[in-house]
Amino acid sequence: MRTAAPFARLAGMFASALLLGWSPLGAAVDASTLANLGDAHGVAPCASCHGADGAGQAAAGFPRLAGLNGAYLRKQLDDFASGARENAVMKPIATALDADERKAISDYYAKLPIPAVLAKPATENSKDDSPGALLATRGRWSQQVPGCEQCHGPGGVGVGEHFPPLAGQSDVYIRNQLKAWKQGTRHNDPLDLMKHLSAALSDNDIDEVSAWFAAQPLSARGATP
Ligand code: HEC
Ligand code: HEC
Repeated sequence: MRTAAPFARLAGMFASALLLGWSPLGAAVDASTLANLGDAHGVAPCASCHGADGAGQAAAGFPRLAGLNGAYLRKQLDDFASGARENAVMKPIATALDADERKAISDYYAKLPIPAVLAKPATENSKDDSPGALLATRGRWSQQVPGCEQCHGPGGVGVGEHFPPLAGQSDVYIRNQLKAWKQGTRHNDPLDLMKHLSAALSDNDIDEVSAWFAAQPLSARGATP
């Protein structure tokens, strides 16, 4: 069955996160526990979900952090804390960190090399004329949807601090974000760029374009500067 395994893994990850001292759904965590967990960067608790190498957990929708732009990562942590990006798991975690810790952890993940496991996409690349490929490369101008690559770079490699990479993220994670914008629980994008275009996408469009990006190879160089 496709559904059983991710649920079991998710439960396991929550258990290990709790063992490490997090209470993702409960009260804020004492920030000093974070610094004292035995690694210089205080990232041990993050590793239980995002992986020691920062590769994330595809099936559970835990994103890759390794090699993402440091300013982008810091903005996301600030947004989880402020509620501009609503997420019950990340909110208490981001709130437990002060501004300096958020910056230090973001810089740490930004410098991590692209994990080898992500160099080869988990899924097959779909055809160039698939609906997901057309949305990604050309967009749908009848609905004022630009091609995703125009902002996220060729193959979704990412561009600078504002346009995060989509290559190297799982279809589950990408789909969750597009749905979050559509439902209004993620409302942190500059100029509402993602809100407007997510609203124009059908559930099927979202599935197709998420699958296409999840199948893009991630070069060892990662994002363009
Ligand atoms: C219990 C699991 C869990 C733990 C522990 C955890 N995260 Fe997360 N993290 C998530 C999930 C789930 C998401 C995706 C939320 C969403 O869908 O919006 C996420 C998203 C993120 C993002 C957004 C990435 C992006 O591409 O926008 C950042 C940054 C992040 N986490 C950093 C951290 C840091 C730093 C720590 C440790 C201090 C941490 N996380 C600990 C589960 C976790
Ligand atoms: C006009 C520019 C623009 C276009 C076109 C665009 N995006 Fe985005 N996208 C953004 C910006 C800006 C962000 C970062 C928002 C933030 O700061 O949190 C983003 C973030 C995302 C994220 C979140 C990534 C993460 O790590 O959390 C996903 C997923 C995404 N876009 C998917 C898409 C898809 C799929 C398309 C095409 C259908 C698309 N985007 C087209 C500007 C764009």
